Amino acid sequence: MDSYELRKLFLDFFAERGHKIIPSSSLLPTDPSVLFTTAGMQQFSLYLSGKKDPIKDFNSRHIATCQKCFRTGDIEEIGDDTHHTFFEMLGNWSIGQDETGYFKEDAIKYALEFLVNKLGLDKKKIHVTVFKGEGSIARDEEAINIWLKYGIPLERIKECSKKDNFWGPVSDTGPCGPCSEIHYDRGEELGCGRPDCGPNCEYCKRVVEIWNLVFMQYFKNDSGEYELLSQKNIDTGIGFERLLSLLNQKSAAYETDLFADFISKLEEISGHKYLENKKAFRIIADHIRSSVFVISDGVEPSNVGQGYVLRRLLRRVIRYGKTLELDQQFYLPLVDIIINKYKDIYLNVFTRQESIIDAIKKEEYKFEATLEKGLSIIEKILLTKKELTGEEVFDLYQSYGFPLELTQEIAEEKGININIDEFNSALEKHQSISRAGAEKKFGGVGKDAGEEGAKLHTATHLLHAALRKILGEHVQQMGSDINTERLRFDFKHAQKMTPEEIKQVEDLINLKIKEDLEVKKEEMNLDEALKSGAIAFFKEKYPDQVYVWTIFNPDSKEVFSKEICAGPHVEKTSQLKLFKIIKEESSSAGVRRIKAVIN
Ligand code: SER
Repeated sequence: MDSYELRKLFLDFFAERGHKIIPSSSLLPTDPSVLFTTAGMQQFSLYLSGKKDPIKDFNSRHIATCQKCFRTGDIEEIGDDTHHTFFEMLGNWSIGQDETGYFKEDAIKYALEFLVNKLGLDKKKIHVTVFKGEGSIARDEEAINIWLKYGIPLERIKECSKKDNFWGPVSDTGPCGPCSEIHYDRGEELGCGRPDCGPNCEYCKRVVEIWNLVFMQYFKNDSGEYELLSQKNIDTGIGFERLLSLLNQKSAAYETDLFADFISKLEEISGHKYLENKKAFRIIADHIRSSVFVISDGVEPSNVGQGYVLRRLLRRVIRYGKTLELDQQFYLPLVDIIINKYKDIYLNVFTRQESIIDAIKKEEYKFEATLEKGLSIIEKILLTKKELTGEEVFDLYQSYGFPLELTQEIAEEKGININIDEFNSALEKHQSISRAGAEKKFGGVGKDAGEEGAKLHTATHLLHAALRKILGEHVQQMGSDINTERLRFDFKHAQKMTPEEIKQVEDLINLKIKEDLEVKKEEMNLDEALKSGAIAFFKEKYPDQVYVWTIFNPDSKEVFSKEICAGPHVEKTSQLKLFKIIKEESSSAGVRRIKAVIN
């Protein structure tokens, strides 16, 4: 069965059962607290929480979709069998209940009917999980009884905790509920052989999840409590790539029709075989596909938010292209293949094809410039010696986003040595300081975050110093987090900041950005660092050797900020452009939280 057939079978099945087929929403959600659309229910969130009426807007409370989704959390996992950044999700909904609405029983009945009668899966290989109860929410006995009634025996019903069997909300607040997942046994030969092997096995992927049925009855509110909604909803989701692979007895979607042309074209243009280069092939395939979709929904590569995620994907494509010795613009025929594969399902990949190609070409051009900069630094170092120290390699990696693999390759070409052990210990040292809480390193979307991460780190130091100058020296860093969009900074201060104080802090930081202060890094031992007046709030947790970062006026030598930190930072504050506080709120008693951006 190919991908076109599977989408159609699913949507037809639910249309025949009175569901309205609604087009996928954009990958860019209307809810600004979420970066991308990660689940099919997002476009129905207000209906699920009872704030909007589905009958009025869709003329039905029963809906089915094939939804474009994008999850950033898994970028590092790409290359394995099951993770994708972009993927599709099939889902059906029953929103609210009158005499027509359905709940657990019909959701379960439909799911079994589709999998067994329509797709021909073997009912004896179906396992399910149900919520075993936790906190204020009870064990889902009703679901257990329905599964039993429809012929799934107790030994194939596993009760799991909230971690596995409670779904949502997508952001901090929103509709959510206990869920019941359908898993499928792919065969003993793929198993770990343990007697308790089954759904969510830690040791193997013999039994895989294919469908999540969420019994959406709760709303998680601002205080983190689960309020019972006045209506009951069904929200289900099938990982499309996962089901397609399973139906074709493939362990990965890269081996289904979704990527067949892509992989053979990549073999042809690279002269390499997929089977010998799975990781690079898969990363290129996954990332080109997701870039096409993200751009088609209106994102351009940039240094913040969605644009930064896109930049990261494209740079990885180019980098992995290099590992396959591919020339510049190698991706052009591959982008075409993706556009052709999806243009009948998602029209805008076709109508936006020029913008897609244009954006990728521009990003390649920019990335080549970064690479050039890194290369010229290497050349300079090699004028005086015949090796790169681990620290130097680490500096290239950290400050210029110059990947280790690339440095290794260049070293090999030039016949010089690099000290990987030393690099690893520099990395470890950096990470251990980060872990100590001084600065959390670019969570999740890290590694080659380079320049953007550096800017936000420096902005965090400016903010810390500005708060101490404007609010007083009692301000102390209590936590810090940086992601692709913004910095977050928690600090000791009893009152809510006034709008004037917020403005004063912003103005002071923007002044310091304009004054183009210098950012200097020095390595010293912890005692020396503390004696020099560097601020440190996690003294007991730092290693013996630390980095001290000073932000100062190069003419007057006046110091604006001096902190112990693992970095990375920019060289000059003028690299930051405009600093803006987007939120000031309470974090916990006596601790305030600021979220800020620099663009
Ligand atoms: N919202 C659930 C999920 O994303 C079911 O659709 O898994």
